[in-house]
Amino acid sequence: MSRRLYIQTVGCQMNVLDSELVAAQLLQAGYELVDSPRRADTILLNTCSVRQHAEDKIYSALGRLKHFKDRRPDRIIGVLGCMAQKDRQQILRRAPHVDLIVGPGQLSRVPALLERVAAGERPQIEVSLDRGADDPARVRRSFVQFDPLRTAQARPIPHQAMVRIMFGCDKLCSYCIVPSVRGPEQSRPAEEIAAEVRRLADEGCLEVTLLGQTVNSYRVRSGGRMIRLADLLYRLHEIEGIRRLKFVTNHPRHMTDTLLQAVRDLPKVSPYLHVPAQSGSNRILRRMRRGYTVETYREMLARIRQTIPQAAVTSDFIVGFCGETEEDFQQTVDLVRDARLKNSFIFKYSPRPGTKAAELYADDVPDEVKRRRNNELLALQNAISLADNQPFVGRPVEILVEGPSKVGRKLDHKAATAGRAGAMPTLAWACATPEEARHGQTSLAMTPTGAAPEGEIVQLVGRTVCDRIVVFDGPRELAGRILPVRIEAADACTLFGRIQ
Ligand code: 5AD
Ligand code: SF4
Repeated sequence: MSRRLYIQTVGCQMNVLDSELVAAQLLQAGYELVDSPRRADTILLNTCSVRQHAEDKIYSALGRLKHFKDRRPDRIIGVLGCMAQKDRQQILRRAPHVDLIVGPGQLSRVPALLERVAAGERPQIEVSLDRGADDPARVRRSFVQFDPLRTAQARPIPHQAMVRIMFGCDKLCSYCIVPSVRGPEQSRPAEEIAAEVRRLADEGCLEVTLLGQTVNSYRVRSGGRMIRLADLLYRLHEIEGIRRLKFVTNHPRHMTDTLLQAVRDLPKVSPYLHVPAQSGSNRILRRMRRGYTVETYREMLARIRQTIPQAAVTSDFIVGFCGETEEDFQQTVDLVRDARLKNSFIFKYSPRPGTKAAELYADDVPDEVKRRRNNELLALQNAISLADNQPFVGRPVEILVEGPSKVGRKLDHKAATAGRAGAMPTLAWACATPEEARHGQTSLAMTPTGAAPEGEIVQLVGRTVCDRIVVFDGPRELAGRILPVRIEAADACTLFGRIQ
């Protein structure tokens, strides 16, 4: 059996990590990555259900893949991740050419299931138990932890890694499908996380981003003591070789003083906090079942600024949630105006069947109103982001160089396909920045790219300790270095600099 693998990811960072882990397993099993579905024997789509748009993308991709399958029926097509868990029957109905459906709690089984499909046993469907359908302990166990040993080769940027510290979510916000597709909240043992980070440091990884749906609610009992995120940060901070630690995504209710003090006191921990507010209206927050008021969110922001004055805070907002009036929306505008966030990700509400909001409330804000509110909030946030970036102009900042920028990465890809690539292919995520991936706004293909000639000057991208994106020209070998860059210009999303 030939093993040419194409893997495409839609969704958040958790999905990007899952794809990396699946790819790493398959590389170890003898697969090789190719850069287009046309050249692949095995095509995997890792999917997202957070908004309808993400699902639509997958159904249209599956439609296109039908011709591929018709032409070569031995090709294997698999749907992984959140949609697999949520809609397995519907996927088979709409796309009977799919051979494999695997939920996020079963990804360790992908290599074995692919073997079965290759042996003619199709379709293979492996998902976790539905929440509420069985005894909670059994449901929890059916979401199998999946953090196998991996290789730096399977990481798009070898000196940066994501490390999952918890699975699932127990917050049950009324609009959100995540708790049902990713299952109950489960924190990984601290020793296991520390061992993984130590291994990553030994491989030359400099920056680790800890992932969890509500990362700051991390808690495990160990030796009769409760270990929380702050304790974990202290522990990971001691690991030699690691230069930067980040963590996403936070829930406002768990932003404790102890955690903020850890961020302040630990120099390797980025003073970057992504804490979604979702709305500025208490009436809407109540309907969303977020468990806090706008006053407590504002109070939390004040505590952050008091403890860590240089902190960069970012947020998510949903506009057009069920019953959102102009007055409610205005309160969100007021919050964004006052909060001075580094950045906000703004989404139009998308009803998700199976959630409390879809069950209880009508999706009664017309799409054009959602669009207008989205644009208005975005324009305000962009003006704030620009003002927030301006003071960096003329100043030096320390950045971790990630590699060629988006445009550069596309060139990389061309170089690889034109056959002038070096001998050692590495992996890259085509067509998206990690920032886009983080917020589920992207669709990524993991493709092999070639090393270009040494010394070639390209447009590089790096990040400050506060997660600000810096673009500058330099030789591509600088990837993975931490160095000072002088900022010469800024727009709302990017700082533009020159190597000093
Ligand atoms: N509709 C729109 N946006 C949503 N999000 C989660 N569920 C929905 C939905 N049903 C947004 C939230 C979350 C981000 C990852 O996606 O803002 O923080
Ligand atoms: Fe969804 Fe709320 Fe959990 Fe975030 S905290 S994943 S928005 S349920």
